[in-house]
Amino acid sequence: MTVETEQASIMQTSERIRALIDDRLAAFLDEHTAPVADPEVATAYRFLRHFILGGGKRIRPLLCYWGWRGAGGEDSDQIISAGSALELCHAGLLIHDDIMDSSDLRRGHPTMHRRLAGLHRGPAARSFGRAAAILLGALTLAWSDELLSSSEVEPSRLRVARALFDRLRTEVITGQYLDILAQVRDLSTVEQALMVVRFKTAKYTVERPLQIGGALAGADEALLDLYSELGVPLGEAFQLRDDVLGMFGDPAETGKSVLDDLREGKHTILIAHALQHASRAEALHLRTWHGNEDLTEQRAAELRQIVVATGALSHVEAMIGERARHALDVLRTAPIDPEARSGLEVLAGSLINRTR
Ligand code: IPE
Ligand code: IPE
Ligand code: MG
Ligand code: MG
Repeated sequence: MTVETEQASIMQTSERIRALIDDRLAAFLDEHTAPVADPEVATAYRFLRHFILGGGKRIRPLLCYWGWRGAGGEDSDQIISAGSALELCHAGLLIHDDIMDSSDLRRGHPTMHRRLAGLHRGPAARSFGRAAAILLGALTLAWSDELLSSSEVEPSRLRVARALFDRLRTEVITGQYLDILAQVRDLSTVEQALMVVRFKTAKYTVERPLQIGGALAGADEALLDLYSELGVPLGEAFQLRDDVLGMFGDPAETGKSVLDDLREGKHTILIAHALQHASRAEALHLRTWHGNEDLTEQRAAELRQIVVATGALSHVEAMIGERARHALDVLRTAPIDPEARSGLEVLAGSLINRTR
């Protein structure tokens, strides 16, 4: 097979898995309609369905799938259910993240708390929207657990996967906690910011999904360790790319605002590095406007300019490159099925070189 036909066949497999995941999620949501007849509750369930099915790259289910294939698993309903469970967990986390970050836009649409707030008028609408979205996020997280538990895998394998899923949730929630702490603490160092990235994103997005797929197919300890060795740097690179897109990306592609991270004062590695290398005047400008809710497009452009001029952008690009190379080196010699290796290589490329 030529490289091109191999790539095309991997892309086809990924598309097929994405479609199966969407079908599984739709079937799960069909089985989980509101347990009461209130039409307003039905509306909230409808919004949730739209959010879950209406977008998202399905990265975690795909990593779970290739992790399973790498451990010798064959296509089956079990891995589709497990991947769908990870997607539900991700959806619940996003709903809560958008409340915490006061984000208005996600996947190109108003965030869940904004949509829910829009159902009512008057001063209580905003707090209703937030409270309602907290509940729907919690419901989605609970559903993710239900879906993974119901997957018909050999019990000893499911036990290992469930333990990894338990860890994933503890890690991502702790990472999110570190992220909000960073915003009330003094500005972070690059090392501190990397710790946040590892916990809030890398583990739940890449490392654990790969391992959960592997564990469900009966992977041994050595393969699970290998998935961790490549998953953590790849997951860090994914979030670093997200930070770059959050500041320099095109909102029409990312579906998120390009001002949010700056206005919120997100302590990204871009900002940490820029501050370490800024002149006094640049540092003062950064400290004044980063995290300032009155930030305008003009001020944001000035902050972007400082991030470029201090070398922070090229530094972060280099960090992404280093991590990608490490992950691909580990993958190259991994004792896994060659098609899974190619699948993971293609997926790794799409996590790092992306515009959305
Ligand atoms: C967004 O994840 C949140 C991060 C951890 C950076 P994705 O980029 O996978 O979001 P969707 O699911 O495709 O919208
Ligand atoms: C992050 O989503 C969600 C989680 C890490 C659970 P975003 O795409 O909004 O990224 P942040 O909020 O900037 O980390
Ligand atoms: Mg956010
Ligand atoms: Mg956040």
